[in-house]
Amino acid sequence: MRSTNLFLSLLPFIRLAMAQNTWSFVQQGNSGIIPLELITLSPTLALMYDRPYVNPLKLPDGEPAWAGLWHLDTNTATPLRTITNTFCASGGFISNGTHVAVGGQPLDAIPGWGNATDGTMGIRLFGPCTSADGTGPGCTVFEDPATLHLVRTRWYPTALRIADGSLFIIGGSDILTTFNAPDIAQNNYEFFPPRAGEAGTVRDSKFLNDTLPANLFPRSMMLPSGNILMIANNQSVIYDIETNTELLRLPELPNGVRIGVPFDGFAQLLPLSPPLYEPTVIACGGSNKPDTITLEEMSVNDVATTQCQRITLTAAGVAAGWEVDHLPEPRVMAETVILPSGDVYILNGAHTGYSGYPSVGDSGATGTNAANPATQGIMYKSTLPLGQRITQSGIPTSPIPRMYHSAATLTAKGNIMVAASNPHPFVLDADNNPNNLSFPSEYRVEYLSPDFITNNSPRPVISKSPTQLAFNAQGTITVTIPASLAAGELQVSLMDMGFVTHGWHAGSRLVFLENTLSGTTLTITAPPNGNIYPPGPAWIYVVADGVWSEGVQIMIGDGGNPPRPAQGVPVTITSL
Ligand SMILES: *[C@@H]1O[C@H](CO)[C@@H](O)[C@H](O)[C@H]1NC(C)=O
Ligand SMILES: *[C@@H]1O[C@H](CO)[C@@H](O)[C@H](O)[C@H]1NC(C)=O
Ligand SMILES: *[C@@H]1O[C@H](CO)[C@@H](O)[C@H](O)[C@H]1NC(C)=O
Ligand SMILES: *[C@@H]1O[C@H](CO)[C@@H](O)[C@H](O)[C@H]1NC(C)=O
Ligand SMILES: *[C@@H]1O[C@H](CO)[C@@H](O)[C@H](O)[C@H]1NC(C)=O
Repeated sequence: MRSTNLFLSLLPFIRLAMAQNTWSFVQQGNSGIIPLELITLSPTLALMYDRPYVNPLKLPDGEPAWAGLWHLDTNTATPLRTITNTFCASGGFISNGTHVAVGGQPLDAIPGWGNATDGTMGIRLFGPCTSADGTGPGCTVFEDPATLHLVRTRWYPTALRIADGSLFIIGGSDILTTFNAPDIAQNNYEFFPPRAGEAGTVRDSKFLNDTLPANLFPRSMMLPSGNILMIANNQSVIYDIETNTELLRLPELPNGVRIGVPFDGFAQLLPLSPPLYEPTVIACGGSNKPDTITLEEMSVNDVATTQCQRITLTAAGVAAGWEVDHLPEPRVMAETVILPSGDVYILNGAHTGYSGYPSVGDSGATGTNAANPATQGIMYKSTLPLGQRITQSGIPTSPIPRMYHSAATLTAKGNIMVAASNPHPFVLDADNNPNNLSFPSEYRVEYLSPDFITNNSPRPVISKSPTQLAFNAQGTITVTIPASLAAGELQVSLMDMGFVTHGWHAGSRLVFLENTLSGTTLTITAPPNGNIYPPGPAWIYVVADGVWSEGVQIMIGDGGNPPRPAQGVPVTITSL
C-alpha cells in the first residue's frame, strides 16, 4: 500500500520527465552508395537509391552499384542491380505492397561509374521482399524500360499513393537544373498504373505552370477528402483528382517565403485523428529571396528563413490563413521525420544557401550551393500551442554535416536512420580532395535515438498483431504496457514513413487509430476508407505516455493491385 502511494505521488514527476525525450547519435556502418533516396522496407531492410558513381559498393561483376539494401540488423549494405539511372526519382508503395520508384536522371554514362541508361521515364518495382536478409523472390529491382515506363521524362517529380492505391505523379523537369523553366518543365500529372482511359496521356497543370521556376519536388499530400494539396514556390492548391480541377488556391506563404527547389523548405502533414481527421500542414524553412533572383546574385551564404507556418485545411482554417511561427535557426534542405508520437523531428540541411549542384555565384570555392551546415535538429511538437511547439532542448548535434542529397528515415526499432550527403556532382573522397572543397561525399550511417531506446528503458511491447486489416475493420494487438507508462495517454499510430529524398518525405503519414485496451488486448479500428489512409503497407506503433513500441508491419485494405475500388465506409469530414 505504502509503496503504491509513494509511486502515485511520484507519478507527476515521472511523467514530467518522460514528456521530454533526450536524443543521441550513434554512428554505425557505411552505406556503400550515397542513399539520397531511402525507404524503410521491413524491420531489417531499407532500400537505397543513388546515381551511378565510383561507389565502394560493387555489383558481382565489379561494376559500381547505384542501388542497394541497407541491413538494419547488421549495418551493412548489399548491392542491387538496376538498369536506369535512379538519381532524383520519387516513389512510394502501392496497394499490393510493391514499392515503385519513378523518374530519375537523364543518361550520364561515365566510364567506370556504372552502366546506367536514361532514368527520366524509369519505373522500378521492388518487392514485396519477405525475407529478413533481402535475398529470394521479390528482393530485386524489376525494370523493363522498353515496355514499362512513364509517359513523360521526370527529373525531380513527386509521387504519392492515393485513395485507390495507385501513384499520382506530379511535375518534374526533362533535365538537371537549379530552377525549373518553361522549356524543360513537365507541368503535368500522370498515374501509375495509368488510369482507365488515360494510358499514354498526361493532365496539364495550371498550378505547376503558375509556380515556375520553383516547382520541382512539389511538396504534396493526399488529404482526408481524397483531394491533393500541392505546395510549390509560395503557392498552394487543393486539387480534385476525380474531376481534374483545382478547387482552391490557399493564401500565399507569408512574407515572401518560398519552399520550392532551390529554396528547399520542408512540409509535413501532421497526424490525422478520428473522428474528423482534420488535416493541418506545416511548411517551413526555405528562403525569402525573390524567385527572379539570378544564379549570379545567389550566394552560398544567403541566410535561409526561420519562418515556419501551418494551416488547417477547413474553411475556417483557410480563412484564418497561415499561422506564422519561427524555427530557432534558419533552415534550407532540412527534412522531417514524423515520429509515432505525432511530433516531428526536423534535421539535416544548412543555415545558408540553396539546394543543387554548384551553380550559384560563389559556389566555386566550396564546390556546393550551400554552407553553414545545420548539425543540430529541431523538435516540432505538433499538439502544443503557438510559441511552445518548437524546441532544441534534448536535441543533439552530429559531427557529420548532412547537406544536399542527405536522408533520414524512421525505422521499425523506433529510431531514425540518418545517412548520405553529397553536394558535389562526383564522389569526393574525404582523403582525396585536392581542391579542398567542403562537404565530402558521405557514406557514414548514424542512428538517432530517444533516451528510452538508448537506455533500454521500459517500452510498450507488441507481441502479436494482425498482418492485414480491412478498412473500418477491428483487429486485436497483444501489447504489454510497462506500469511506469500506464497512467499516460495511449495512442496507436498507423504510419507510412514516406519516400525520402531531397528534404522531402513524400507520402509520409500518421493516422491515430481508435483503440480500447483491456488487459493486454488492444482492440484497434482500421481507418474508415482509403482517403484517410491509402490502401497499402503501413506500420503500427503503440505509444504510451510519449514512449513508443517497436513498429510492426500491416497491410491496410485488400492488398490487391491498383487501382482498387473504394473500400471501407464513407465518413463525414469537415475539411477541404
Ligand atoms: C552497358 O550496357 C549496354 C546496354 O545494356 C551493354 O551493351 C554494355 O555491354 C554495357 N557495358 C558494360 C561495360 O557493362
Ligand atoms: C503558363 O503561364 C504563362 C505565364 O503566366 C502563360 O502565359 C501561359 O499561358 C501558361 N500556360 C498554361 C498552359 O497555362
Ligand atoms: C509570392 O510570389 C510572387 C512572385 O513569384 C510575389 O509577387 C508575391 O508577392 C509573393 N507573395 C507573398 C505573400 O509574398
Ligand atoms: C581548406 O579549407 C579550409 C576551410 O574550408 C581552410 O581553413 C584551409 O586553409 C584550406 N586549405 C587549403 C590548403 O586551401
Ligand atoms: C503490383 O501492382 C503493379 C501494378 O499493377 C504490378 O506491376 C506489380 O507486378 C504488382 N506486384 C505484385 C507483387 O503483384
